Amino acid sequence: MGEIRDKAWRILKKHVSNDSLIKHCLAVEIAMGAYAEKFGENREHWGAVGLLHDVDFEKYPEHHPYHTRELLETEGYDEEFVNNIESHDRNWMSDRTLLQKTLLAVDELTGFIIACALVRPDKSLDNLEVKSVMKKMKDKAFAKAVNRETIYTSAEAMGVDLREHIQFVIKALSDAAKHPDYQEVPII
Ligand SMILES: [Fe+2]
Repeated sequence: MGEIRDKAWRILKKHVSNDSLIKHCLAVEIAMGAYAEKFGENREHWGAVGLLHDVDFEKYPEHHPYHTRELLETEGYDEEFVNNIESHDRNWMSDRTLLQKTLLAVDELTGFIIACALVRPDKSLDNLEVKSVMKKMKDKAFAKAVNRETIYTSAEAMGVDLREHIQFVIKALSDAAKHPDYQEVPII
């Protein structure tokens, strides 16, 4: 991993100590990086936005993500970077760019997929099937905190088929879970 990633990781660790939140940020980083590659975009940049998208959540849960600016500006992140993070506010009023749509589309979904993997006997992402994720999405009692509507509408806004989107994110997470870069804090 390069300098951009090292810096983002250092800053995340400075502001976030909760292990689950760090795992969530890593999962979003992985999904963003995989989509950047698919779309021919800058993988490190998309990954860094993913890794830092909840950087203010632990300190300012009530005003998240609007404290991102003060935490990141002093670290040299520019307006565009901060905007990309602020755009994952569900009530964001402006049109979203492809990066911003993708961030919204992977934020809740990564958590839901990991929740699906954790209830399997082997607690693994390997061989987790799209149909089982789709089935659990309809089960209102399962992973109640995950907003299904956001998953549906954000995938639609991104212009991807929901099943293909789920499959893509499962594969990205499952590959990364085995990768040496993701052993310091395992995502699952
Ligand atoms: Fe998030």
